[in-house]
Amino acid sequence: MTTHDPASLSTAQQAAVGSGADFWSTKQVGDVPSLVLTDGPHGVRRQVGATDHLGLAGSEPATCFPPAVGLGQSWDTDLAAKVGTALGLESRALGVDVLLGPGINIKRDPRCGRNFEYYSEDPHLSGTLAASWVRGLQETGVGASLKHFAANNTEYDRMRSSSDIAPRPLREIYLRAFQHVVQKAQPWTVMCSYNRVNGVYASENHWLLTEVLRDEWGFDGVVVSDWGAVSNRVKAVAAGLDLEMPGAGGVTDAQVVAAVEEGELEAAVVARAAARMLALAAKAEAGRAVRVAAFDAEAHHDLARQVAAHCVVLLKNEPVEGRAVLPLEEGRSLAVIGEFAQSPRYQGGGSSHVNPTRVDLPLEEIRALAADSEVTYAAGFTTDGSGDAAALRDEAVRAAAAADTAVVLLGLAAHQESEGFDRDHIELPTEQLRLLAAVVRAQPRTVVVLSHGGVLRLADVDHQAAAVLDGALLGQAGGGALADVLFGRVNPSGRLTETVPVRIEDTPAYLDFPGEHGHVAYGEGLFVGYRWYDARSMEATYPFGHGLSYTSFAYSGLELTAGAQGITASVTVTNTGQRAGREVVQFYVTRPGSAVVRPPQELKGHTVVALAAGTAERVSVLIERQDLAYWDVRADRWIVEGGGYDVRAAASSRDIRATATVEVEGDGLILPLTLDSTLGEVMAAPGAAEILGALMPMPAAAADSDVLGVDMARMMASIPVGRLLSFAAGAVTAADLEKLLGDLNAARATAAGS
Ligand code: GLC
Repeated sequence: MTTHDPASLSTAQQAAVGSGADFWSTKQVGDVPSLVLTDGPHGVRRQVGATDHLGLAGSEPATCFPPAVGLGQSWDTDLAAKVGTALGLESRALGVDVLLGPGINIKRDPRCGRNFEYYSEDPHLSGTLAASWVRGLQETGVGASLKHFAANNTEYDRMRSSSDIAPRPLREIYLRAFQHVVQKAQPWTVMCSYNRVNGVYASENHWLLTEVLRDEWGFDGVVVSDWGAVSNRVKAVAAGLDLEMPGAGGVTDAQVVAAVEEGELEAAVVARAAARMLALAAKAEAGRAVRVAAFDAEAHHDLARQVAAHCVVLLKNEPVEGRAVLPLEEGRSLAVIGEFAQSPRYQGGGSSHVNPTRVDLPLEEIRALAADSEVTYAAGFTTDGSGDAAALRDEAVRAAAAADTAVVLLGLAAHQESEGFDRDHIELPTEQLRLLAAVVRAQPRTVVVLSHGGVLRLADVDHQAAAVLDGALLGQAGGGALADVLFGRVNPSGRLTETVPVRIEDTPAYLDFPGEHGHVAYGEGLFVGYRWYDARSMEATYPFGHGLSYTSFAYSGLELTAGAQGITASVTVTNTGQRAGREVVQFYVTRPGSAVVRPPQELKGHTVVALAAGTAERVSVLIERQDLAYWDVRADRWIVEGGGYDVRAAASSRDIRATATVEVEGDGLILPLTLDSTLGEVMAAPGAAEILGALMPMPAAAADSDVLGVDMARMMASIPVGRLLSFAAGAVTAADLEKLLGDLNAARATAAGS
């Protein structure tokens, strides 16, 4: 690998490498090459003409794989890796050194316009999928850009708004997936987000970019800004930002040089940022040296179709008059209804928008697999409000009534959700709901197929349709994938990565979204997604992790073993049905009697297993010790609590198949006793009662709870011991107390060490 010595560069040159040459590339400085960075997470958006960061101008043809909302529903880390590798090959072929993805922000609220580009409401699932995607990409010699670091969970006012988050949810929910990917997959770059985190812009947030990302997590790559996220380059460099994008025409380079000359910014800090850029350049040069052929567009389209089929979630599949609705039977007539059958919605709007090499049309793909079945089509509605809604509906109803089964494609059009703005609600368009009601009345054998980026309220759909498939957004080959699933060529194995609420008012952030006057308060704390619905015992139309199959699975023999690495959970899964299928085995962990507030259960492991009909396989998953930890705000670090942990093997967060308990040795957190420690905390220390009693005999009346009819001990337990001096009338001094506390601390340390 070529090496470049930052010491060979002047301060001006060091500043220059830290800001782009133009929209998509960095400057060439000395022998340091210019690098190309471009979007996106599910397809390469390589612009050679006009450039933008909103997906407005054109780009070179590239494969549009399922966006994260779809890929996430596969729960399959192997598939994520394959997509990463394919994207790497296309990046190399299109001259891209760093691909700007994956996006792993947590889906805090279903209205967030960019949820289509993110994986889940859960950090474990987001982190494990993204880490595989990054490894797959980077093995082709192309770097990833893990984004958007951090807490970019709304599009509203995204370039100014402060995400105000308490330490535990920040660590355990919003940073956790980033930590997992950084430590497990070493992305070449991390992209800082536009927003502020607890009042400080991410681009200028030393705590975030240096103390957490580098000092704690060990990140040694480049921190690149989101496009236009730098408001003060000097502060950003001081905080740990290495690359400002896009380029600022040298203006901020001069500011950096001036700041060094005026003593406002240390030269060493600038040199360190430049060194990271030179190391990135060396990685890119090494990557370029690995020759790859022009990518095979047809092979990648086939891969996109295979992947997409595993991203489809079978939400519901009820027989009608004793006859299954799905999979569709060949030879039976079909009415395909909905504009999306001819004009599929397969990706999202904004910077991730790909110019696909081709696009499968669901209607064509269905007809291709329907063999000699008659397949009619009716638009049913328009997504732009044009046309005669009643006439379109009547035509669709006639088609549905005349067929054996109706397949109705519903969802959101591109203009209804996108990067850059949030939704105001989660409703399907009224005309689509009217159409569904009319079709179901005429044809009870109705299948609904959904295309959408953000979660929808589906209670009406669930009540009316016999079968429901959630296609989310499936990429350019989604039409073929849907046909494969509809006809049973692929047995659906997708699982929801985001809860489908009964109504928007039930959602965790309902009252704290999208924020106001530059602040959004994460009032729900740890209780995001299923964590919220479980804690409040609330129903969901479809729960997190839910997904059905054309076959069925049984779980048996759950065993847990605890060790230094964590908990190994093993369970046997049997395909008890008549056709091959894939099961997503989920492991949720609970800590009964925990000393801290915790969600009722948390996803801490999962695996996908493919089984032929009638066969079984024993699967094992390591739930890493670190994933059992909570963030202790007193000690300001991760702590694993000692005690019993319940592990649930599940087919969804609400379909628990087996539970077992295992003891885990804790980290033994001993916090030093101080004058601020409460009487209760001090009295819990061995021997404290006698010592404290001798020093400050409690008045008999106070000691005798019966006298006042209240639990005096509980009443006094929350008093900081230092405040007792106010009641000692000078008989005891702070020094006396501090000596006592010192002795107790020493005794506990000795006991812990023994
Ligand atoms: C956009 C997005 C980011 C993208 C970048 C470049 O505003 O926030 O995800 O990679 O700018 O297009």
